[in-house]
Amino acid sequence: MGSPQDFERGTEVSEAQIAVHWKEEEFVHPPAKFIGQANLANPDVVERFNEEHFPECYREYADMLTWNQYWHTTLDAGNPPFWKWFVGGKLNACYNCVDRNLAKYKNKAALIFVPEPEDEAVYALTYQELFVRVNEVAAVLRDFCGLKTGDRVTVHMPMIPELPITMLACARLGIIHSVVFGGFSGEAAGLRAADSGSRVMIYADGYYRNGKVVDHKPGADNAVEVAGQEGQKIDKILVWRRHQGQNLSTKPMVKGRDYFIDDVLKDFKGCRVDPVAMDAEAPLFLMYTSGTTGKPKGCQHRTGGYLAYVTGTAKYYQDIHPEDVYWCMADIGWITGHSYIVYGPLALAGTSVLYEGVPTYPDAGRPWRIAEQLDVNIFHTSPTAIRMLRKAGPDEPKKYKYHFKHMTTVGEPIEPEAWRWYYDVVGKREAVIVDTWWQTENGGFLCSTKPALNPMKPGSAGPPVLGIFPMIYDEQGNEVPAGSGRAGNICIRNPWPGIMQTVWKDNNRFVSQYYQKYCKDRNSKDWRDWPYFAADGAVLAADGYYRILGRVDDVINVAGHRLGTKELESACLTLTDVAEAAVVPVVDEIKGRVPEVYVSLKAGVSDGERVGRQVVSTLETIIGKIARPKAVHIVPDLPKTRSGKIMRRVLAAISNTMDTGDVTTLANPDVVEQIRQQIQGKGPVITKEGPEDVKRFGENE
Ligand code: PRX
Repeated sequence: MGSPQDFERGTEVSEAQIAVHWKEEEFVHPPAKFIGQANLANPDVVERFNEEHFPECYREYADMLTWNQYWHTTLDAGNPPFWKWFVGGKLNACYNCVDRNLAKYKNKAALIFVPEPEDEAVYALTYQELFVRVNEVAAVLRDFCGLKTGDRVTVHMPMIPELPITMLACARLGIIHSVVFGGFSGEAAGLRAADSGSRVMIYADGYYRNGKVVDHKPGADNAVEVAGQEGQKIDKILVWRRHQGQNLSTKPMVKGRDYFIDDVLKDFKGCRVDPVAMDAEAPLFLMYTSGTTGKPKGCQHRTGGYLAYVTGTAKYYQDIHPEDVYWCMADIGWITGHSYIVYGPLALAGTSVLYEGVPTYPDAGRPWRIAEQLDVNIFHTSPTAIRMLRKAGPDEPKKYKYHFKHMTTVGEPIEPEAWRWYYDVVGKREAVIVDTWWQTENGGFLCSTKPALNPMKPGSAGPPVLGIFPMIYDEQGNEVPAGSGRAGNICIRNPWPGIMQTVWKDNNRFVSQYYQKYCKDRNSKDWRDWPYFAADGAVLAADGYYRILGRVDDVINVAGHRLGTKELESACLTLTDVAEAAVVPVVDEIKGRVPEVYVSLKAGVSDGERVGRQVVSTLETIIGKIARPKAVHIVPDLPKTRSGKIMRRVLAAISNTMDTGDVTTLANPDVVEQIRQQIQGKGPVITKEGPEDVKRFGENE
């Protein structure tokens, strides 16, 4: 059960508390044409995956893979919450995504790369070409870098085909890759490299974004420096060149440390590297994500369970067939890209499109031109991109002759209005939509409609996916029943193969973050006593559909990207003039949520405007441009309880023009009105109420 600290945290601001509610929508049924060809069209599957058949139901997913050695135990739950999946099994993830597809599909496109500059040619890599390139890179990692099974490599790269090639080369040798989103700063990459203990980092010289060349390589120098401060020496930086033989970076290469991979590769032409048969439980990769503390955590994903889960869900929920052209517009630097651009689609011998740039470059017709040119029939994106494209070009999709059979939305709640534009205009009323709810920690989908079997409900993720048994708990650990209209914390009662193994080097954090809150008995060896706490608020309708409201912890989901408020606050506090800082989520029309920063200055500092600018640049340097706040407010003091705790909830209410509630018990109640006037002007307080059918999160206690 929650500790007093948890309850205290529960009274703080969270995304779920400022969630914008909408009314229950009518069902929309999947088109008959889709159903006719769907991978998952027989309703018997529901019976096969019911709770009685847990955990053996997951054999169905693992059997989609090729194993070097078959497993003997599907789930070993003997040491909760450290689950083991497909115990005794051995397999190689790269072999499953590349080699095994050669027999039937060697001439088929595995990846299609679409450069951002529209005059640069699109090119496809067949499975045979992918095989050749992955082998050569694996040889470089092994023989040039001296890396071996179990070592970690930090990959800080943009969306170019060399990114999945590098990941697969690591997987071939059982090297654990840790991909850091290309838009994060070098400092952020260095911190993650240090935590993972990487001595090799992989970079790109530059890339194109919004019509400009981004010089990416300078980040490597910052990364090496930050990693060094953390006690981790980086021996080698391998640099991919966006254009062979040219250098997009202005930064000089450091002799003896930095190497252009295309130069090194000349010595490895035609090399073949046998895939290493890995234990099903061997880690495949780390993915760092933000949590409730200042330090990002390395979600450690296993080889067998993860690959089985993403393959099974990509087949059944993304409906990927080898002949489809599948385009997920996410970045591979996030979990969506790992699971549903690289591992899931390739394990199914799919064709996966990689787009380098921003969706609206050079105009809002770009995605639809790409779809038309490549004949994409499965499309996958986020509500932020949908809102952005709708705003910039509401009628653009009509101009292009593409036809989607299937579309995904992921990463944030989607409001029914945006959903309808996606369905009517982007999908031309021909495509089924899945709204998939899940998290970095989860490996793959947790809630979604089964595309051919369940009707869609705009704004709701839908029922749990096969083999997942959720429950909504209130703060006291009581079940919040379906149809009550009350929000609570969504938890998953059972383990599943895609769940992370642990937090890298931090088992305690894994337990405390995800399992402590609702664990029924810490000594219990029964998985039923260990529900997974997802840190999302949700409402369960009477029909069994879940609507996700957003995070209940100190995480802000900005345009589908996770940022920790504590991480942002610690970055602000590195400035000597800043006395205190608080970061709160603010509702944004396009990005869903964005951070706003409140800062008080140290005594004697008067130049607030300068500090405000410094706060912005510091956040960009320490974290990356995605952390740029909507506003920085320099305020005389931050509202605090008598025990000195900063009341972010009050600040969030001001930023979101909601009611601040009773503030009379604060240590400094006057400052609240002062800040309100500063932010909102002197007019009356505007309160934003949701419709009656759903109570605000936290009102149910
Ligand atoms: O709040 C939920 C939101 O995104 C968070 C997870 O973010 P991340 O780990 O970066 O993974 C994003 C892609 C899987 C969740 O805690 N979220 C994700 N999908 C949805 C969603 N919120 C509402 N609806 C979704 N479909």
